[in-house]
Amino acid sequence: MSQDYAFESPRLNFRKLEMSDCGETYLAWLLDPEVNRYLETRHSEQTIELIQGFVAGVNSRPNEHLFGMFRRDDGRHIGNIKVGPISALHRRGDVSLFIGDRASWGQGLATEAIAAISIYAFDTLGVAKLASGMYANNQGSYRAFIKAGYHQEGLRRQHGLIDGELHDILECGLIAQDLAATRKALLS
Ligand SMILES: CC(C)(COP(=O)(O)OP(=O)(O)OC[C@H]1O[C@@H](n2cnc3c(N)ncnc32)[C@H](O)[C@@H]1OP(=O)(O)O)[C@@H](O)C(=O)NCCC(=O)NCCS
Repeated sequence: MSQDYAFESPRLNFRKLEMSDCGETYLAWLLDPEVNRYLETRHSEQTIELIQGFVAGVNSRPNEHLFGMFRRDDGRHIGNIKVGPISALHRRGDVSLFIGDRASWGQGLATEAIAAISIYAFDTLGVAKLASGMYANNQGSYRAFIKAGYHQEGLRRQHGLIDGELHDILECGLIAQDLAATRKALLS
């Protein structure tokens, strides 16, 4: 594995984002209505400068860990995944991701990325619990977290608005006892 990479999975390498990763492609992902439909970033203005400011801000905070996902077959940056903020008091962190490169959807890469960052967070960052929430109709995200070993822990009714319509939010979590399934997801 290249020294630049923080960790890897069978088809992806993960490394901290650099300013040079924050260009037109990244901006186009955030402006793509198919990609941002369920992302809170859809509510804010996006420019390359604002993306760079966001990445610099996250990189400066020790309790947040943002990684680019790079395909191992051709080296392409296809999206990002983050763990954090991590609460040191509770050893608990949030996981979120997006794959901006739509050609990379439907190949099991989100499942693989979620499993890989979760193992990294438990083994290297020392978390004891990870959590993620998603709109109930974002079945791709929900299925990816469940396949990566997460369990549904809750459903917040009519908790978010998409295009003026109220949607439920599913709350998912991963604890140490679930990690065998997470490791298995990385093998399949
Ligand atoms: C949601 C997202 C992460 C899924 O990524 P992906 O790499 O295509 O997901 P995977 O290939 O690992 O698929 C995981 C499961 O979800 C299913 N799935 C994927 N996209 C789906 C969709 N649009 N509708 C229904 N199921 C879907 C897959 O079939 C698979 O389940 P299965 O094996 O039981 O069939 C990706 O589409 C994305 O980044 N979307 C935009 C941003 C976003 O919504 N991020 C999550 C915010 S919570």
